[in-house]
Amino acid sequence: MKNKIDVLQDKIKKANEGGGAARIQSQHKKGKLTARERIHFLLDENSFEEIGMMVTHRSVDFGMEREKYLGDGVVTGYGNINGRLVYVFSQDFTVFGGSLSETHAEKICKIMDMAMKNGAPVIGLNDSGGARIQEGVVSLGGYADIFYRNVQASGVVPQLSAIMGPCAGGAVYSPAITDFILMVENTSYMFVTGPNVVKTVTHEEVNSEELGGASTHATKSGVTHFACSNELDAINHVKRLLSYMPQNCEEIPMQLPYTLSDENRLSLNTIMPENSNQPYDVRSVIGEVVDTDSFLEVHKDYAENIVVGFARLAGRSIGIVANQPAYLAGVLDNHASTKAARFVRFCDCFNIPLLVFEDVPGFLPGTDQEWNGIITNGAKLLYAFSEATVPRITVITRKAYGGAYDVMNSKHIGADLNYAWPTAEIAVMGAKGAAEIIFKKEITSAQHPEEKWLEKEKLYSDIFANPYRAAERGFVDEVIEPAQTRAKLIKAFKMLENKVVNTPRKKHGNIPL
Ligand code: HXC
Repeated sequence: MKNKIDVLQDKIKKANEGGGAARIQSQHKKGKLTARERIHFLLDENSFEEIGMMVTHRSVDFGMEREKYLGDGVVTGYGNINGRLVYVFSQDFTVFGGSLSETHAEKICKIMDMAMKNGAPVIGLNDSGGARIQEGVVSLGGYADIFYRNVQASGVVPQLSAIMGPCAGGAVYSPAITDFILMVENTSYMFVTGPNVVKTVTHEEVNSEELGGASTHATKSGVTHFACSNELDAINHVKRLLSYMPQNCEEIPMQLPYTLSDENRLSLNTIMPENSNQPYDVRSVIGEVVDTDSFLEVHKDYAENIVVGFARLAGRSIGIVANQPAYLAGVLDNHASTKAARFVRFCDCFNIPLLVFEDVPGFLPGTDQEWNGIITNGAKLLYAFSEATVPRITVITRKAYGGAYDVMNSKHIGADLNYAWPTAEIAVMGAKGAAEIIFKKEITSAQHPEEKWLEKEKLYSDIFANPYRAAERGFVDEVIEPAQTRAKLIKAFKMLENKVVNTPRKKHGNIPL
């Protein structure tokens, strides 16, 4: 018996050594943790249970039968984060560069299947050179098996991907299907093919950082939702992000204990600039309305004209979508529409109520926007809000012009409540442009056209640059003093907590992708 236990202990020791001391040292030298160290920091102490530690690859080409590592380049299993069950896989770059073999894929698929059956999130810690080149098509098949499961699990359990090293080829497509991607600055990369292949094919000279580093994907492509300063920061972000989500689509997010007191926020009464064309940072409004320090912004540096993120209101998780007047006047464009649409759909998948702050001058006009599909992209946001069945509330703080009024969670597309501040302006377009069109003849034939124009602009503005026309129709449910916003929202979301919507029977809708 003792011998047999010794054999087991020896195997466990070997598995823990991954690709060996030299490769672990090289991993540390690059400022990276090992696959097991990452799991250690991610999960509650002593909660990790490993599955598949003894798995090895089956490859026999290129002398591979002589080079085997227990676990085959990925550590898989389950454990807890703040007491909540999660499934995790952590790729081991010290074993064939974390590349994906047939068996490595089987291990990941196994825990994904368990996560689906048992209704718990999947967290992937990715550090992989993509398909294991020595295995050819069986490795490609392994990737497709994972992609298929990513899609089956989408909307069933939350899937989070932390990118902890160079990820190429298939190693980027699985994360792309998951709900959120987090990258580490300077040590993680995502690209379909690396700089060398780029140079051969397109003659472009580009380094890894520029091509697919964290800041590139956080600002230019929007592929990553978070750019974290180091691996521990990324791991902490994963934990915080998860705290706003339920375990699966059948549950609601956990509510933190909260005792109501004076929920009025007088500072909101003076937050709006005197001139309605002056910018302000919508984050300052969000910060005053939600529970202290509860706002976690998603996609912070991408399409900054719209702000999205998670927060808590009296301890309940909510998703926030807010036009950002401090950036491009908060206009809706291609990137902002796509960013917000994806966020709205995530919240709806996982029963997270939506709160919208609206201050939008409209859709951005021009060839760049039109040629890049603002019609299709704007429609994505319209579609996402319209199909969302979670409780939905809008606060119109200032401008709600044109199509953007309809799109930004209006009552007409299913919002439960719309509030407006007294500073709200709800009309087809701004008064200046409107006057120019409908009073064109009068203006051009006037002795002093400029004066006439101003006079007509004032007329239009007096009629529409306020929330009362919309309130008369019931399109706005209540015009509220800004200071009351938080208190009103707390009550309203509580009132909506048992909301049920019956949608028409269908296989699935066809969002304009
Ligand atoms: C097998 C691999 C590997 C791979 C790396 N290694 N990638 N082994 N298959 N895909 C091994 C190396 O041989 C090396 O082994 C160790 O991992 C570390 O690799 P290095 O190159 O020394 O590290 P580094 O300089 O940090 O570069 C990392 C890297 C680079 C950027 C990931 O290795 C690389 O470009 N790899 C290939 C990426 C790729 O093109 N993959 C296939 C994509 S196609 P030793 O023994 O020296 O430690 C794909 C298809 C799926 O994935 C498509 C789905 C849609």
